[in-house]
Amino acid sequence: MAEDSTGHSVGGTQTAFLEPLELLYEEAGQPRFDLPPALATAYGGDLGFALPCVYANFVTSIDGVVALGPEYPSSGSAISGREPTDRFVMGVLRACADAVLIGAGTLRATPGHQWTPDHVCPQAAPAFAELRRNLRRAAQPKLVVVTASGDLPTEHPALKSDALVATTVEGARRLEGRLPPASTTLTAGEGSVLRMADVLAVLHARGHTAVLTEGGPHLIGNLLREGLLDELFLTTSPVLAGRAETSRPGLITGLELLPKQPAWADLISARRRDSYLFLRYRLRSSGARVGLRSEVAM
Ligand SMILES: NC(=O)c1ccc[n+]([C@@H]2O[C@H](COP(=O)([O-])OP(=O)(O)OC[C@H]3O[C@@H](n4cnc5c(N)ncnc54)[C@H](OP(=O)(O)O)[C@@H]3O)[C@@H](O)[C@H]2O)c1
Repeated sequence: MAEDSTGHSVGGTQTAFLEPLELLYEEAGQPRFDLPPALATAYGGDLGFALPCVYANFVTSIDGVVALGPEYPSSGSAISGREPTDRFVMGVLRACADAVLIGAGTLRATPGHQWTPDHVCPQAAPAFAELRRNLRRAAQPKLVVVTASGDLPTEHPALKSDALVATTVEGARRLEGRLPPASTTLTAGEGSVLRMADVLAVLHARGHTAVLTEGGPHLIGNLLREGLLDELFLTTSPVLAGRAETSRPGLITGLELLPKQPAWADLISARRRDSYLFLRYRLRSSGARVGLRSEVAM
């Protein structure tokens, strides 16, 4: 089997494109999507979600950094070291999703990226396609970009294939005539922050009940403020990122939870590959922050 520069197996047959993740812990009774054998083998077991579900996937350094700062594009790749197993997990989570939800900051910071399973793990593309067929999903998850300002890099390749841009009246005005024809705009409010419950309601109405969010930290903060995040997949990459004068956010920006509103979580599963940890949490506060929804600035 071929190996990449890090010595990891990347080629070979469809059933052995990756050395399996080591399962350290899994809560009993998890929903199961019946992953195709190639995916289940590589993931170290089955995977599924009780729908509707909003689940996030992030990679963090040991010292809690998820973004290196505006001067560094594609922070996630730098933090993960482009670890093939992390890219596989990203891929399998995308393959389970009806829609991938990101904030405009993440789109602006990640030039050339496509938020599809195949883009991050092309060797598993046939197995991802099989899973999506089994789940009766569209061929690829729909990319949903949230922006109040409408300040998007409209030439970004991810907007060229059927993306949905959720924005404000002002953002829609700014984007008018600038988006590629394949993308559409959803006007979901006014002001500087959209109610994410409204955006998710539109997605649910369109049948998108498995919603993966890949952030970034501002969007996660907004989802948590409204009690809308159900699960978190967190890869801990074995690296220290450090902080100096620049802003290097952790998972959440724009929202303080502790000490008044701690968002406790339960560990659902833990997996390992070399020194990388792949953790899955269920947020206990999911749905419980409804009372805070009216505090969202509009
Ligand atoms: N380590 C990882 O796994 C990971 C994952 C994702 C991102 N990142 C990194 O995170 C950094 C970006 O951070 P970020 O916090 O700026 O990203 P972000 O949350 O993706 O983007 C923030 C922007 O999204 C829009 N937005 C978010 N919530 C909104 C709401 N409720 N209503 C309206 N607009 C909303 C706003 O766009 P407008 O300004 O256009 O109004 C806001 O300024 C990048 O460096 C990226 O690489 C890392």
